[in-house]
This record gives sequence, structure tokens and C-alpha cells, in this order.
Amino acid sequence: MKILAFNGSPRVNGNTASMIKVILEEAVKNGHETELINIYDLNLKGCLACRACKNGKIEYCVVQDGLHDVYPRIVEADVLIFGSPIYIGHITGPMKILVDRFYTFGRQDYTVRDLPGKRFINVITSGAGKETYPEVMEYLNSWMSKFFRMENIGSLQIGNMINPDDAINSAQHVEDAKKLGQSI
Ligand SMILES: Cc1cc2nc3c(=O)[nH]c(=O)nc-3n(C[C@H](O)[C@H](O)[C@H](O)COP(=O)(O)O)c2cc1C
Repeated sequence: MKILAFNGSPRVNGNTASMIKVILEEAVKNGHETELINIYDLNLKGCLACRACKNGKIEYCVVQDGLHDVYPRIVEADVLIFGSPIYIGHITGPMKILVDRFYTFGRQDYTVRDLPGKRFINVITSGAGKETYPEVMEYLNSWMSKFFRMENIGSLQIGNMINPDDAINSAQHVEDAKKLGQSI
């Protein structure tokens, strides 16, 4: 299977990225093909609400940024991983833009193309305790499953993360991430 992961943190070796990498390393051992995209590298621009994606004349989205070339890889992937730190109570700005730009998969009649049937995993890290932001995990789970019609196959929410290497230095967090990767 193809697994495409998005790191929504500017830290390419931070808590979120390190947990995603552990998940992917285990998935590779199971023979899966993996790719990790640091979304700050995509210089994401917000949805323009032009609705060009709804008239059938373009394949994905008119916005010319780093996501343009990523859309086909999203379509090819069997499993998507969305990882984000909490920034001021929510996913980071670029991660929200990524979610908004999934709008292109919605048809005029609000049915969804390409995504239904895929599976997804969410990874959330925060400075506060992991119980502090259940609504952020619920937000991602709900939109990815109820609107975009993908199946949630696991989540990792970890708290008390301050330094970029706090997650990777926690045997428990590494173990939890490994289990998630092995389950794919
Ligand atoms: C701009 C900014 C805003 C943050 N806001 C919050 C917050 O509202 N609540 C919280 O618990 N942690 C907050 N944090 C801490 C991060 O969520 C936490 O350190 C996270 O693990 C960082 O992940 P990373 O290493 O993958 O970047 C914030 C950090 C930054 C840089």
C-alpha cells in the first residue's frame, strides 16, 4: 500500500515529525511504500473560493503552489497521515489550509471523489497535556471521515511536548507510534 504523510509543523525533526517517522518506519517493515511531506515546504496558499474545481474543467485546483503536484499523490495513496502540533488551540495554519484545499475533492452536489475508501491516521502533539484538546482530534476525525468519507484507522495524541525531541525521547510515545505503524 501507499502511505502519504503530512507533517503540519515547521519543525522537520520535531515532535510531530518524529512520531510520523516512527509510524512510517514500521509501515515500511510491513512492505508499504511511504512518503512524508513537510507541508511548510509547499508554501501553501488558501482556497480562493473560485469553485473552478466544481465545473469539471480543471483536474484539481487552480492555485499554483506546492500542493499542485501533490494532488495526484493524494489520489494514489491508500493511507493518509495528518500530523500537526497545536498552535493557539488548533492545528497549524498551513495544516488548516491543507484541509481546506481538500475542498477540490468535493463535487458540485457535495459528494466526494477520489478520497472515499482511503484510510487515515491523525497525529496531534501539544505543549499542554494530551487531554487538553480533544476537540482538535475530533475536528480532524470528523471531517476526514464524515465529509471526506475516509476511514479512521488510528490516532495518536500526545501532550507535554515542549522541546522538539520530547516525543522521540519518550519510550511510551515511540512504542505507541510503532504499534500504530505496525497496524497498517
Ligand atoms: C506558535 C505556537 C503556538 C503554540 N500553541 C500551543 C497551544 O495553544 N497549546 C499547547 O498545548 N501547545 C502549544 N504550542 C506547543 C506545541 O504544540 C508543542 O510544543 C508541539 O509538540 C510542537 O510540535 P513540533 O515539535 O512538531 O513542532 C505552541 C507552539 C508554538 C510554536
